[in-house]
Amino acid sequence: MNGPPPVARISATARYLPERVVTNADLEALVDTSDTWIRERTGIRERRIAPDDVSAADMGARAACGALRKAGLSASDIDMLVVTTATPDHLLPSTACEIQARIGASRSCVAFDLQAACTGFLYAVSVAEGCVAAGRGQNVLVVSTEKMSTIVDWEDRATCILFGDGAGAAVVQPTVNGEGILSSFHRSDGDLVPLLQRRAGGAVMPLDEDSLRNKEHMLRMSGREVFKSAVRSMAHAGRRVIKEAGLTASDIDLMVPHQANARIIEATARHAGIGMDKVFVNLDRYGNISSATIPVGLDEAAEQGLIGPGSNILMTAFGAGLTWGAMLMRW
Ligand code: ACO
Repeated sequence: MNGPPPVARISATARYLPERVVTNADLEALVDTSDTWIRERTGIRERRIAPDDVSAADMGARAACGALRKAGLSASDIDMLVVTTATPDHLLPSTACEIQARIGASRSCVAFDLQAACTGFLYAVSVAEGCVAAGRGQNVLVVSTEKMSTIVDWEDRATCILFGDGAGAAVVQPTVNGEGILSSFHRSDGDLVPLLQRRAGGAVMPLDEDSLRNKEHMLRMSGREVFKSAVRSMAHAGRRVIKEAGLTASDIDLMVPHQANARIIEATARHAGIGMDKVFVNLDRYGNISSATIPVGLDEAAEQGLIGPGSNILMTAFGAGLTWGAMLMRW
């Protein structure tokens, strides 16, 4: 191994997916689209949609409790709670504080949101790693939770077919037997903000009659440009973390990429030199759950026995900002 020995690992994961399934056929009734187009262009067959009275914090709290249970921790053991979401319950205060209250961790830890869109989970695990490395805490809880159904325009066929709701959580703790984060690489490019954004609702363009009428508070995306940038940036980040860890593509046991589009996943894997038999995909069942895709994927992959002690796992992500990154971890 090339880099310094790992200091932090993911010791437990959990997920929460709402029960309601919305199929491509259901969307045919809403917009001018077809099951065939959606499957062929994206790989998505269905997605989960949360009920009106279930918020991102509610879903995140359920995933958080699951991860704590699996790690054998109670809420009062948490030193830091980092939450990633593109759909915060409120603009102020943070969704992290909402989740902190729901899981009974109030006052015992610091809680804050980290905004990096779909790349949020990887950024947050790196922040957690830094906390552990600095000796500031032993138990960091990362929660990625998204209610994307509240920010997509259900009349825009280019975006509404892509997204789903759900949450994933991970506990980050000090390394025990040399396992953990071997290398990571994160970047962002603020010049590409216009490619993917919600323009209204913040201080620059507050919600008013005009912005609401023009749906400026909804997600707007230049799909083709995001697509090209995603493949380029994730492939580069993936190759870089493999090299920095002193490994080769053939050492990777499983790649758990951000789940946005099957064609993006296939192209990224191809550029990184990883066969699709080693790539975890659940996009067909959940669509793009933004920052929750990787923790949900890790949790399912572990449950299915696809990863176990000693597995080398490559994670790659990209999202609005644009942001992107990769992380290589020994499980
Ligand atoms: N059903 C049928 N036709 C459609 C649909 C649809 N749902 N959506 C678009 N089309 C049409 C377009 O109108 C266009 O028609 P035209 O040729 O007559 O103009 C045609 O299909 C091709 O459109 P493109 O946008 O070029 O299609 P593309 O193959 O690029 O696929 C897609 C679009 C799926 C959005 C793709 O570009 C993509 O996945 N991009 C990446 C998006 C992404 O991952 N975003 C998430 C970022 S994560 C975050 O931070 C939230």
